[in-house]
Order: sequence, then C-alpha cells, then structure tokens
Amino acid sequence: MPAIIDTRDLTRRFGALAAVDHLTLAVEEGEIFGLVGPDGAGKTTTLRMLCGLLDPTEGSARVAGHDVAREPQAVKDQIGYMAQRFGLYGDLTVQENMDFYADLFGITGTFRGELTEQLLRMTRMEPFGDRQASRLSGGMKQKLALMCTLLHRPRILFLDEPTNGVDPVSRRDFWAILYQLLKEGITVFMTTSYLDEAERCNRVGLMHKGKLIRCAPPETMKADTGSLNLEGAFLKTIFTVEQEARL
Ligand SMILES: Nc1ncnc2c1ncn2[C@@H]1O[C@H](COP(=O)(O)OP(=O)(O)O)[C@@H](O)[C@H]1O
Ligand SMILES: [Mg+2]
Repeated sequence: MPAIIDTRDLTRRFGALAAVDHLTLAVEEGEIFGLVGPDGAGKTTTLRMLCGLLDPTEGSARVAGHDVAREPQAVKDQIGYMAQRFGLYGDLTVQENMDFYADLFGITGTFRGELTEQLLRMTRMEPFGDRQASRLSGGMKQKLALMCTLLHRPRILFLDEPTNGVDPVSRRDFWAILYQLLKEGITVFMTTSYLDEAERCNRVGLMHKGKLIRCAPPETMKADTGSLNLEGAFLKTIFTVEQEARL
C-alpha cells in the first residue's frame, strides 16, 4: 500500500531562506508521526505544505493520494488541520463554534447533531456546550479546536503543537482522545516541543534548519546515540550534524 503521506525533496523558500529543504518522508496510514526540532526549524511550514495551504517551491508531496500543489482541495477534503493558533470565536459558545465549523464544512442533517454530540462526549466537554469559548481553560480550548477539526471526519489529522502551554492533566486528556482516534484508524501527523509526547509517537522526525536530519522510532534514536532520553538523542544528533557542516 502506498504511504498516506509521501514527500520527495519537498522544499519551501522564503527569499534566500530555505525554510524546508529537500524533505523526503513517508508516513503509513494509522501511524502517529511526530515532527520535532527547535523553533524556526521548518515544522509549521512543512505542515502547511502538506495541508495544501502553501505551495512548495520545489519537490512534491502526496497526501491521501493527492498532490498537494495540483489538487489542494482534494487534500483538504481528507485532512483536518489544527493550526498553532486555531481560529476559535471567543464570544461564541462551544456549541456555536462547532455549528460555525459544521456550516463551513457543509455538514447537515441528523448526522450533524449526532456527530456534535459524539465529539462532545468523546472529549468530555458535554457540560460546557453553553460556555463561551473565551471562558474555557487552555486545555478545553484545545479540545474544542480539535472537535472543530474533526467535524468533517478527516482521514489524517495534522496538529501543530496542539498541547503547547496546556496543563498536564488536560494534556493527558488530549492524548486519550488521540489514542481513541488512532484506534479508529486515523493517521496523526503532529509537531510538539514536549519530549514525553515525542516518546509516544511511532516515529519521530527531527528537523533542524529546514532539513530532516533523522527519522526513526524514539527507541532507535536513543539507542543509536547512546542516550537515555530523547532530549539527549536530539541534542547529540544536532551537534553531530553541526560538526559535519563545519568540516
Ligand atoms: N511567511 C513567511 N515569510 C518569511 N519567512 C517565513 C515565513 N514563514 C516561516 N518563515 C521562516 O521560515 C523558518 C521556518 O519557520 P517555521 O516553519 O514556522 O518553523 P517552526 O514551526 O519549526 O518553528 C523560520 O526562519 C521562519 O522565520
Ligand atoms: Mg511552528
């Protein structure tokens, strides 16, 4: 079976800067893949290209069987994208935000109500349907953003630092939801700056200055660098690449 995400030399330049530099990567259906790396490494730019929101300068990517540059709408139909700053309406309630996105995705009929209820149940947000989004905690806001992203039942979920700044308990809740979705067969492609989250991914891709410098299961990364934890593995890998660049 072909990979559900498949990129070849995917590149995006902003002027002289190669924000994403010849990135080649394949992700299988049902996988949870984590993209990590320092600020400015090119994670968000990669995600935006994979979601058909930003054209590659060079190279290509196929997502769910469609070319992101030639068929961006076909890609968007099959994916959900939760941006770093997802657009919730603070003065609308939880339910009204969901209605807004359901309208946007053209979801109608009895199915719409069932789906909304199911998502509220899954995220344990049922008691908060009437609460204004601006009055939700950080963790609940992220859960609401996730619900809105899931309304059109995407095959692939792209999450850009979804739990950034969220308290530990809400992060655990968020992960319980992700595991539930994975059980249902969804593919998750996420960026994170939390190492415990990277540990939970099937495979991790380490980006540095636009390049994917390593891509492996967390255990392999640790073993190959002789590190006890992922932080050590990442630092050693980046250090080695920097040294090679200097030679
Ligand atoms: N629209 C843009 N115009 C110019 N430079 C950009 C733009 N978007 C991102 N960049 C630059 O590309 C690099 C990668 O950014 P980004 O993909 O946001 O990294 P990350 O998500 O890993 O922090 C950064 O140096 C950033 O400043
Ligand atoms: Mg980013």
